[in-house]
Amino acid sequence: MSKLIKWIDERLPVVDAFERHMSKYYAPKNFNLWYAFGVLALVTLVNQLLTGIWLTMKYNPSADGAFASVEYIMRDVDYGWILRYMHSTGASMFFIVVYLHMFRGLLYGSYQKPRELVWLIGMAIFLVLMAEAFMGYMLPWGQMSYWGAQVIINLFSAIPVIGEELALWIRGDYLISGITLNRFFALHVIALPLVLLALVVLHILALHEVGSNNPDGIDIKKNKDENGIPKDGIPFHPYYTVHDLVPIGVFLFIFALIMFFFPTFDGHFLERPNFIPADPLQTPEHIAPVWYFTPFYAMLRAVTFDLFGQPAQFWGVVVMGASIAILFVLPWLDRSPVRSMRYKGWMSRTMLAIFVVCFVVLGYLGAVPATPTRTLVSQLATLGYFAFFILMPFYTRLEATKPVPERVTFK
Ligand code: HEM
Repeated sequence: MSKLIKWIDERLPVVDAFERHMSKYYAPKNFNLWYAFGVLALVTLVNQLLTGIWLTMKYNPSADGAFASVEYIMRDVDYGWILRYMHSTGASMFFIVVYLHMFRGLLYGSYQKPRELVWLIGMAIFLVLMAEAFMGYMLPWGQMSYWGAQVIINLFSAIPVIGEELALWIRGDYLISGITLNRFFALHVIALPLVLLALVVLHILALHEVGSNNPDGIDIKKNKDENGIPKDGIPFHPYYTVHDLVPIGVFLFIFALIMFFFPTFDGHFLERPNFIPADPLQTPEHIAPVWYFTPFYAMLRAVTFDLFGQPAQFWGVVVMGASIAILFVLPWLDRSPVRSMRYKGWMSRTMLAIFVVCFVVLGYLGAVPATPTRTLVSQLATLGYFAFFILMPFYTRLEATKPVPERVTFK
């Protein structure tokens, strides 16, 4: 065995790579539960890739056959139902995990120097993931697949001058049709997963270059022993590889519970109208995206007034785009001398709490039909969402911070 490894290693430095990224990668000792969501994102990614491959074997990407092929998978294909539910529940679990993973970044200032690129690549992953989920949701060709895509693609036509042409180019037709379904299928099963995988590799390489942050936000590389090993670090393998098995086990348990007992999660993971075949002649009573898009959808709908000669729809698209774009510049908005929320002041904590409340409220409002009161609340929540970012350069500089300890702490 060792001879074989040596033979391979002389041609491809696998041992070196293993040491660099696993057995000699020193991770901070004080990781807590928040640090499990990175590895859980990897688990959900692998789940989506594997179940997706098997679904593709029986799925038919045509306007005439798509809906029926999904029903065929659910009823007739051996274990088809479990593969489909693993994939559809898996998509929602992916977003739950990724949102918590991003929140950890906000909590511990993981986006701050020197991890700006880790955050930026993460944001690129988030964008691709949203496109991937959107296109995947269209494939069952149910009512929500069709009308959801109709609403989202029509947003592009709000862009001045090129909008109409752009929407036409995306659809490949004058209205959403089998042609659109075909290209979304191609993008969903091969193009975007390839990009996603490449970005995840880059994400981890970039992280390993600078090293992981931790709940104290302390730079463990500043405190090394005589062998040059961080005193507050432990080798990722075997310590964290074994340690991570616990959250993975708990996660799989929760995943299975949802998949077996609440697979549509009361119409939140798979919406009820999507069990009706797509009908271009009948608009569903209430069109709402799946839960993970609803905060952004609520911000889109929060703009109800025309401005500077442009219609409300245009400004809605601008606000929705800005709500995601602003996350990209986060590393340059935070001027705090400390990273972790543990040592930041009351202003940062209050603003983070406001941000979370606004995000959750927007998530709810994006899922229910609009009323004048709801629109007003979503406008206020949109302001709260943006205030967290726009005011950040000021409150992070103004507030008093707590002293950061020399060495990591355990809670
Ligand atoms: C497919 C999706 C993703 C996967 C598989 C993934 C994977 C990982 C892994 C394995 C780690 C190291 C373990 C950890 O610190 O939790 C990590 C760290 C990190 N990720 Fe992600 N990630 C994903 C998406 C994102 C997104 C969307 C963002 C934010 C925009 C992000 C930002 C970060 C940051 C800032 C770190 C460093 C955290 C620290 O050291 O404190 N990731 N990611």
